[in-house]
Amino acid sequence: MVLVSGTGSLLQSIIDNQDESYRVSKVVADVDCQGIERARAAGIPAEIVAFDATDRKGWNHRMAAAVGEPDAVVSAGFMRILGPAFLQRFEGRTINTHPALLPAFPGAHGVRDALAYGVKVTGSTVHFVDAGVDTGAIIAQRAVEVEPGDTEASLHERIKKVERELIVAVLRAARAEQGTLRIDI
Ligand code: GRF
Repeated sequence: MVLVSGTGSLLQSIIDNQDESYRVSKVVADVDCQGIERARAAGIPAEIVAFDATDRKGWNHRMAAAVGEPDAVVSAGFMRILGPAFLQRFEGRTINTHPALLPAFPGAHGVRDALAYGVKVTGSTVHFVDAGVDTGAIIAQRAVEVEPGDTEASLHERIKKVERELIVAVLRAARAEQGTLRIDI
């Protein structure tokens, strides 16, 4: 199942590339967004669990209930931090795609921060989600060169092209084993 918050172009790539190695069982979002529309258009069950900053614990419990019991939880452009009430249930089978080469530039502005730092190479990281912000074990990475004149938007678009391929490659290599994910890539 896939978690989204926004445009959902990564979700679209995951949906379009489904084959015998994985299927998207459900899409859950914290806000009404294009990702939810994409799921519905593809005939995939979709649910919004509106984020509630005044009751993070309750929101995490509602998120866990909405997610159900999938083999894998994929955070693909999901912009909220998942708390213990969620992770205790899904740690080891929750993965995230991040638009930078972790451990450099974690957080919500990975592309902007890499550009501001002046790096010449950045990229995409798929990693397991743990209690930290983009700190979980790295599964796969691909580099993207920063080009002269790049803006945050132009660089992010090139990174997202790579992210769309990398997350599919990771999902195709993933196997559910006793409640955790084994990914040989
Ligand atoms: C991706 O770059 C993802 O890594 C980041 O947000 C972007 C999501 O894009 N967290 P989209 O909504 O899938 O188009």
